Amino acid sequence: MSQLTKTAECLLVIFLVGIVAGDRQPGFHKNTGIFPKDFLFGVATSAYQIEGAWNEDGKGPSIWDNFTHSDPSVIIDGSNADVACDSYHKYKEDVALAYNLGVKMYRFSFSWSRIFPTGYNTTINHKGVQYYKNLLKEILKYGMIPMGTIYHWDLPQNLMDDGIHWTNPAIIDVMVDFSRFLFKTYPEVGMWITLNEPHWLCRLGYSLGKGAPGITSNGKDEYKCTYLAVKTHAAIYRMYKKEFPHYKAKMAPSVDCLWIEPLTNSTEDQAAAERQRQFECGLYFNPIYVGDWPKVVKDRIHLRSMAANLTKSRLPSFTPEEIKFIRGTADYIALNHYFTTLAADMVEAPFHETSYEHDKGVNISLDPTWIVQDNGRNTIVPFGVRKVLNWIKDHYGNHEIILTEIGMTENGTTLEDDIRAAFYTDYFCNILSARYEDGVNVTGITAWSLMDNFEWMSGYTSHFGLYYVNFKDPNRTRIPKKSVKFFQKLTKTRKLKCDKPSRKWPHPVQFNMKGKPIKWKKH
Ligand code: BGC
Repeated sequence: MSQLTKTAECLLVIFLVGIVAGDRQPGFHKNTGIFPKDFLFGVATSAYQIEGAWNEDGKGPSIWDNFTHSDPSVIIDGSNADVACDSYHKYKEDVALAYNLGVKMYRFSFSWSRIFPTGYNTTINHKGVQYYKNLLKEILKYGMIPMGTIYHWDLPQNLMDDGIHWTNPAIIDVMVDFSRFLFKTYPEVGMWITLNEPHWLCRLGYSLGKGAPGITSNGKDEYKCTYLAVKTHAAIYRMYKKEFPHYKAKMAPSVDCLWIEPLTNSTEDQAAAERQRQFECGLYFNPIYVGDWPKVVKDRIHLRSMAANLTKSRLPSFTPEEIKFIRGTADYIALNHYFTTLAADMVEAPFHETSYEHDKGVNISLDPTWIVQDNGRNTIVPFGVRKVLNWIKDHYGNHEIILTEIGMTENGTTLEDDIRAAFYTDYFCNILSARYEDGVNVTGITAWSLMDNFEWMSGYTSHFGLYYVNFKDPNRTRIPKKSVKFFQKLTKTRKLKCDKPSRKWPHPVQFNMKGKPIKWKKH
């Protein structure tokens, strides 16, 4: 056989193998800007942020009611969500607004104390139960999938008063009871999120003290909270699979992941960036997808605890049984993404100064050329989403990923929010690149948020909505921003122009995993 024939044969084999491999893998095609048929668009909300009616029809107070009422100065504008968007009364209008966008998924959360005013399943508020029945009926009427979050940070105040919250293991049973009630009562829910962003639940509430219940701790309570959050999630998931085997709705916790780019290509900064990723999202993904805490997190907290003469690590350890129980407790990855930062190695802080920041040992900064929205609420760095999607795939396997929150904020002074359309265009094009070019199994997004709402510590000063809400008007009138048109066109055509970025967003130098500067293709 001639050398030429051999080469031709070889090429044929490579070509055929390529076709077969291509068939097996979802990606490695050009990003055409066209959304695959199965790609879901949705919008997201949460109970405390939109419902209002804080003490109506038998609802009990939540820790966020108590937090904002006890000291209004904890919220930038001294506000609270007593009325918020008044969605408790206007839910029909709100579901119609979502439908008007052409989306197929509506994410909402259940207010625990509206259903169980005391937090315990011994007190059921039937009007509250009915409210969510009505809401679900409305969502289904428009053919949308209801995505229900079990816990979006609004613990019943009565449980808190009884000492049952995120540092007390008793939280697990009461939350499993609440979840069981939801599964029995609302089989209509099409997708479940157990806990929303446990990272911020624990950081804001148990470390920085900036969110309810306002506890500050030096690298202790937040880890107890993290440990209990992971265990609670797993307990709910196991109960759901055991007691409701005929229900097909997928379940996961929603985990917020920033993208963290090393400040320089030094080995130290590369390691710092990876450490930061592990302390942020690895802390939640690792126990579920790999088993146990990420090694670097475990090692760092142990080392600093021992050096501070403590008898054990401030990070509670999982037993082998717990590791087994937690591993595999998710049917998809629910990812929230808002931010990209730079990370640099930090000089080791004195060991007696215990804190999450010192455990991480990372200095965070922003590239001065980046667009930073609303006092640092979010940065606009479109490639960040593509990188974080790839990082997740590389670390935890190619599971289905839904971006359960993605969005940007503005100061609410204009309805002409062209920047939001540009933001979504370029982020979504990066998501498509992740799917087509990198083979990441990302299948949907729910945009944060349907409408402007009570933005936690920022009160009503931060505007994430596609619809503007007039909070000065007792009717809380909703007005479409320009980005509503963008969404309508997107959901109708299912196509974006992804050949070049819609704006020249400033980008920093980026490095690949080996520390070599790279130019990220397009966007
Ligand atoms: C939370 C939302 C919040 C959004 C914007 C997420 O951390 O889940 O409740 O409104 O970010 O800050």
